[in-house]
Amino acid sequence: MKKTASDMIKHHDLNGKVFLVTGAYSGLGAITTQVLLKAKAKVIIASRNAKTQADFAQGLIDDKDILFDPQQLDASHTLDLGDLASVRDFAHYVKGAYDQIDGLINNAGVMYTPPGKTKDGFEMQMGVNVIGHFLLSKILAEITRRQIWLSSKGHTRLGAPRINLDQITKVDNGDYNPRLRYQQSKLGNILLAKQFGEEYPHLKAVSVHPGMVSTNLGRNISFVQKLTFILTNPLMVMNMKQPEEGAATQVMVAIMPESELTNGAYYADCRVTEEAESAKNMEDAKKLYDYCNEVTLAYQA
Ligand SMILES: NC(=O)c1ccc[n+]([C@@H]2O[C@H](COP(=O)([O-])OP(=O)(O)OC[C@H]3O[C@@H](n4cnc5c(N)ncnc54)[C@H](OP(=O)(O)O)[C@@H]3O)[C@@H](O)[C@H]2O)c1
Repeated sequence: MKKTASDMIKHHDLNGKVFLVTGAYSGLGAITTQVLLKAKAKVIIASRNAKTQADFAQGLIDDKDILFDPQQLDASHTLDLGDLASVRDFAHYVKGAYDQIDGLINNAGVMYTPPGKTKDGFEMQMGVNVIGHFLLSKILAEITRRQIWLSSKGHTRLGAPRINLDQITKVDNGDYNPRLRYQQSKLGNILLAKQFGEEYPHLKAVSVHPGMVSTNLGRNISFVQKLTFILTNPLMVMNMKQPEEGAATQVMVAIMPESELTNGAYYADCRVTEEAESAKNMEDAKKLYDYCNEVTLAYQA
């Protein structure tokens, strides 16, 4: 039996705790938000589409199975991780409104996007998954107690190459490989979790692989590619998790006692798991952190 996010939250009273969930209105983010609200936490949701976010918030309030005080939910602001000005404005709103974030859940993500750049000129997957979350985490670092970075086993794909900073800005349609950029971005998430944990002794930061979960993440994969994957990986497809199961690990690390959480660790299936060698390289972690810091500096003030 696979563990679910609801199993993780059972018997927990999170009254007084504040969590921030990016990409909250779908997939793993939606389940994470629901179970945290059920356990009485305050949840700030940070998604990019204002109407979808408002509808999602209203749906939660109307849901008789969740039963929470609407004051627990802050859906007042939106966040586009592909736009540094939007990240800055959102982060400054949070910093002004809250004294402490008990768990920042860097959950939003894109996968296998076609060649393209964010508003600020970063390759889309690196820009959203890595640079946008870096800026959010950096502005909020002083008031954050715990960071949870959604990574993926995808960081081990293609031989798990080391982080290559050229991949962050260069989008040459001729040799753009969407799988490589996703691998790099999810590797970047692990490295940044490790480095934030080093830079800020008052907080703990971890990364998570949720498993292969049935969500909308694969929206850029064609029907033929999906069919080929199903036919060549039947066991993996049979073991695919539902979002309730996929969100178990991120919920577990968000709420577990601080003394039990391993700073910098990579968690999968609700336990510390070994990451690829390229994800253990602290020189690369520092290099990536410094790069992200430099390119977002103008937005940090
Ligand atoms: N599902 C899996 O099998 C799997 C496996 C390994 C890792 N993960 C990781 O788990 C995380 C959650 O993914 P999911 O499976 O729940 O997929 P999902 O349902 O597609 O959720 C992703 C969320 O990210 C949001 N997002 C995308 N671009 C954004 C932007 N520029 N600004 C703000 N929000 C943005 C999406 O909002 P929009 O709808 O507006 O685009 C959506 O709410 C991702 O980081 C993913 O890499 C998932």
